[in-house]
Amino acid sequence: MLTNPSQLLIRNSELLENQRVLVVNFESDTLCKTLLEHCPEVSGLALDFNHFLHQNAATNSKLKLHFGHELQTDDKFDAVVVYFPKAKALAPYLFALAAWHLAPEGLLLVVGENKGGIKSVDKLTGAHFSKPVKRDNARHCLLYTAVLLGEATKPKVDDFVSQYQLSLPGGDVTICNMVGVFSDKRLDEGTALLLDNLPALSGRVLDFGCGAGVIAIALLKANPALQLDCVDINAMALLSCELSLKANGMNARVYASDGLAQVDGQFDAVISNPPFHDGLSSTTDIATRFVADSKAQLKPHGDWCIVANRHLPYSDTIAKVFGKVHTQAENNKYKVYYNKNS
Ligand SMILES: C[S@@+](CC[C@H](N)C(=O)[O-])C[C@H]1O[C@@H](n2cnc3c(N)ncnc32)[C@H](O)[C@@H]1O
Repeated sequence: MLTNPSQLLIRNSELLENQRVLVVNFESDTLCKTLLEHCPEVSGLALDFNHFLHQNAATNSKLKLHFGHELQTDDKFDAVVVYFPKAKALAPYLFALAAWHLAPEGLLLVVGENKGGIKSVDKLTGAHFSKPVKRDNARHCLLYTAVLLGEATKPKVDDFVSQYQLSLPGGDVTICNMVGVFSDKRLDEGTALLLDNLPALSGRVLDFGCGAGVIAIALLKANPALQLDCVDINAMALLSCELSLKANGMNARVYASDGLAQVDGQFDAVISNPPFHDGLSSTTDIATRFVADSKAQLKPHGDWCIVANRHLPYSDTIAKVFGKVHTQAENNKYKVYYNKNS
């Protein structure tokens, strides 16, 4: 199965014929494997762990797939395909990465949905590339190409991170946000309500959907002895969380997980500002699954605490899974739900 942007790419596969190709920000389909019908070698970089898991099973000597914010090698390619990101702020970073991995005069292909902001591609590719040219338009998607001008250097994380200070009862902390990560540059209002009503936690704690690590940092500031697992599906979020921990001299286990699939063992507490977006569409499916899955990994009498938009139908799910719903705090936009496991 190929997504619409992938179908547009394949119908232009002559652009990639016999090229060594890198696919950046690939999607949850079989595009990388399909490209092997046209290219001798294909490498792929997923920034979404779910997309990586989806295609990884197909890996072989000609197909190398990676998850993370960068490739672990300095390899150069004849062509780089960039899937235009759902978070537009991430686009300049992806183009800088593409430029670094392109051989001299290499070809950049950018593909994405019309509604996803790809039309502004020429303002985002930067000085490394010729002016992008529109090549094709089908299945509500657009394909642009551009050529690498000169040589590019490796993108520096520092050029794509923003920092803000947060005042907590235990003192000030620094939060580092890579481009495109949730709540760029300032504290989210929902997370703020959660931090104002943070339960006192101890033992092993799971921060689900850690983003830039703001909840983790607040928890560790209140209790440095916590053993924290911080998980997220997004490579830029995981990098941000690691940077935030480092900036505050704190430690936690930070790793990729799609939902709770990669999280092992039982926790004394689970805390989250759970995701409500899946790509461009809003969904409660991830959160609904999270309520049931996290209860299953909570020790008896463990603490469970989330913040959510008050209009999202969480109460019913929480009541069904926990047999009770306790609203710890609320304002006109958000509710903090807190339950103790039975
Ligand atoms: C609402 S944000 C909260 C971020 C951070 N905890 C905060 O309060 O600022 C939700 C986070 O969940 C992550 N996420 C989305 N889908 C996920 C999934 N299936 N598994 C794990 N994390 C996911 C997103 O990347 C995002 O960082």
